[in-house]
Amino acid sequence: MAISEKARAAFLADVLSGLSAQPRTLPCKYFYDARGSALFEAICECPEYYLTRADLALHEQHAGAISQRVGPEAHIIEFGSGAGIKTRKLLASLERPRAYTPIEISTAALKVSARRLAADFPDIEIRPLQADYTRDIDADRLQLDPPSRRRVVYFPGSTIGNFDHAEAITFLQRMGRIARPEGAILIGVDLMKPESTLVAAYDDAAGITADFNRNLLTRMQTELGAKLECEAFTHQARFNSECSRIEMHLVANRGTRIEIGGQCFDFSEGDSIHTESSHKYSVDDFRALAAQAGLKSVQVWKDADGLFSMHWLKQAAA
Ligand code: AVJ
Repeated sequence: MAISEKARAAFLADVLSGLSAQPRTLPCKYFYDARGSALFEAICECPEYYLTRADLALHEQHAGAISQRVGPEAHIIEFGSGAGIKTRKLLASLERPRAYTPIEISTAALKVSARRLAADFPDIEIRPLQADYTRDIDADRLQLDPPSRRRVVYFPGSTIGNFDHAEAITFLQRMGRIARPEGAILIGVDLMKPESTLVAAYDDAAGITADFNRNLLTRMQTELGAKLECEAFTHQARFNSECSRIEMHLVANRGTRIEIGGQCFDFSEGDSIHTESSHKYSVDDFRALAAQAGLKSVQVWKDADGLFSMHWLKQAAA
């Protein structure tokens, strides 16, 4: 599908600055075109990728307790399209939810999920909001009349892990402002675990994660007219113990060149492009991070296998 001229220009600018930087990087948000989103769905089915199953099991096991925390007549605001099964589990478990707002950059994704949710939850007001949730959101567009009793900002799936610590703190602060002092944040966080488990989860045997990673190169070719050799780059999942994160890289397996936007980028064998970080946290690590954003982790749930966590965060001052 063709992207808009504005989106194309932003993609090109991000690619040029990422490839000019040292170390070379590409932003992980560009994984998710139609093909990338389908590949991510396939990753979630991989036996090695435990995250989605554990997150879902957590939702199932703790639905009652979570619903109690949320309370009646809440306005649920999700950072993401709301297309997932977890959202349905949550909405189904709540006591008379007042309204549900998915915030999503892709109008198409938002429309599809809003239509389906409206059909399945006729008693909940579905109020989709097209916006980039990594930027400031116009608060007026979230306002209900009369105002809701409480807002709960919902961010499942551990996407928070893609941010470095400084970005994550800024992001948590923004979520806190949206929730307001009487509201709360319900956020999924993947837990730290042994290196071999993490590397396997981000480098599955079927090679789906490798295709997902290399899809960035394909997008550069088809959407930006880049001249490059896709097969000259190998997918790699690296554990960075110092930063408690798993990193995805595209590593040149021979000398190769990327020509894009009138610029050339040369790679020697072994040179890499860092495409994604997924930070992993212990419960205490994430508590400390939230505290730096002025938030207090009031309750934490885990799945039965202890793989994944969900925090209930409130404004620390309150
Ligand atoms: C969707 C951001 C949670 O970081 O685990 C999956 C994306 N990257 N496999 C993650 C992803 C490689 C995923 N999140």
